[in-house]
Amino acid sequence: MDSIVINGGNALMGEIAITGAKNSALKLMVAALLTDEPVTLSNMPELADTKFLAHLLRHLGAKVIENPQQSAMTITAGGLGEPEAPYDLVRKMRATFNVLGPLLARKGHAKVSLPGGCAIGARPVDLHLQALEALGAKITLEEGYAIANAPNGLSGAKINFPFVSVGATEHTMMTAVLADGITELSNAAKEPEITDLANMLNSMGAKIENAGQDTITITGVKKLGGVTHGVVPDRIEAGTYALAAGACPNSDVTITNCQPEHLEALWAAMSRAGIEVIAGEKQVRIKRGTKPLRPVDIETNAWPGFATDLQAQFMALMVLADGASIIRETIFENRFMHAPELSRLGADITVHGREAVVRGVNELTGAPVMATDLRASVSLIIAGLAAKGQTSVSRIYHLDRGFQNLEANFSALGADIKRVKDT
Ligand code: EPZ
Repeated sequence: MDSIVINGGNALMGEIAITGAKNSALKLMVAALLTDEPVTLSNMPELADTKFLAHLLRHLGAKVIENPQQSAMTITAGGLGEPEAPYDLVRKMRATFNVLGPLLARKGHAKVSLPGGCAIGARPVDLHLQALEALGAKITLEEGYAIANAPNGLSGAKINFPFVSVGATEHTMMTAVLADGITELSNAAKEPEITDLANMLNSMGAKIENAGQDTITITGVKKLGGVTHGVVPDRIEAGTYALAAGACPNSDVTITNCQPEHLEALWAAMSRAGIEVIAGEKQVRIKRGTKPLRPVDIETNAWPGFATDLQAQFMALMVLADGASIIRETIFENRFMHAPELSRLGADITVHGREAVVRGVNELTGAPVMATDLRASVSLIIAGLAAKGQTSVSRIYHLDRGFQNLEANFSALGADIKRVKDT
């Protein structure tokens, strides 16, 4: 297995361009199943997760042309075959489960493997299934599969989510665009990726109103057409590079091709920590001086709150703050696996259930550490960049799921970082 080796202590200087958002791209790819016409996605990131989903779409009968040189992908789901997504093509990545609704809407029946839990929590799909049932699907669970039928077609319904779920909001919205009548989704997720998906579906001929607000209204249409759509910039990638610059004294990094207004909660927390954040329309400049960071408490929340996908990276800064901070994770029940790894570098962190108390230390020292999930692994990279000496991060296949050209990008900013192939 490859690892990433970092000699820490360098300041980060220069400019870095952000790619399209993984978590939007995956849902846009799935939404391409809703039409038999070509859907071309530009500003597409090139990631292990997008390739994996492309395999599944091909298995389902879609034609997928990947064009990484142009950061583009074209999906034509004209001749869909048997609507069945097997375990092997679903288990690695939860976003694959969202093919269930679109397949059902197109074919009237579908069989998709349940995704199972993952390292950060149990992550059930009960809200997805309840919402599809409200739209008229008959669903049974058999031998690890969700088997859905809509013998009388799908029809609009009023659905009130008991709590906010990004995946369930997206899945239901995609399915309801081809249902008969009006669907109202209340307590819907409001993340920028939801709005991106709604914008693309509307360009395909859907009628979705108020995406990005609490209640989304969808008026079903008979058919959707093809589209060319640019994926929204990845706010988590942008936030990650911003936090890396914030972790390394004397850094001055400008992050381009991003939408800084998607990260207000992060900028507020970084500013309170003493990092200078100069946000423009499509770029943000991060300046970190030499003074120690101030401790800042954060609590993760659904958008526009502090993103759970930036919690691990923020902790990597707080371990070097001048005092103690409390980090509270409210979205996932087990998202502190980076804490014991950060402790291997000298961090002082105590985890009590959903809360971590981080007592800042004067310095971190390099050590071998292990990646446990995508965002946890990049927090170890940030800590390694700020630590004295050499850090090697193993199991970096997690990183390749969500960060394009990570080592090359950090090298270009002046970091001493390289990928080492396991012989
Ligand atoms: C999306 O996951 C993202 N993944 C996650 O990013 C992100 O952390 C999360 O949203 C929250 O922002 C993708 O977009 C592919 P949820 P999702 O449904 O949709 C519970 C990353 O690192 N829940 O909003 O799965 C669930 O267990 C990943 O890029 C149910 O109980 O998140 C969680 O505790 C990690 N039943 C909470 O709701 C359900 O049916 C919120 O999950 C659905 C969710």
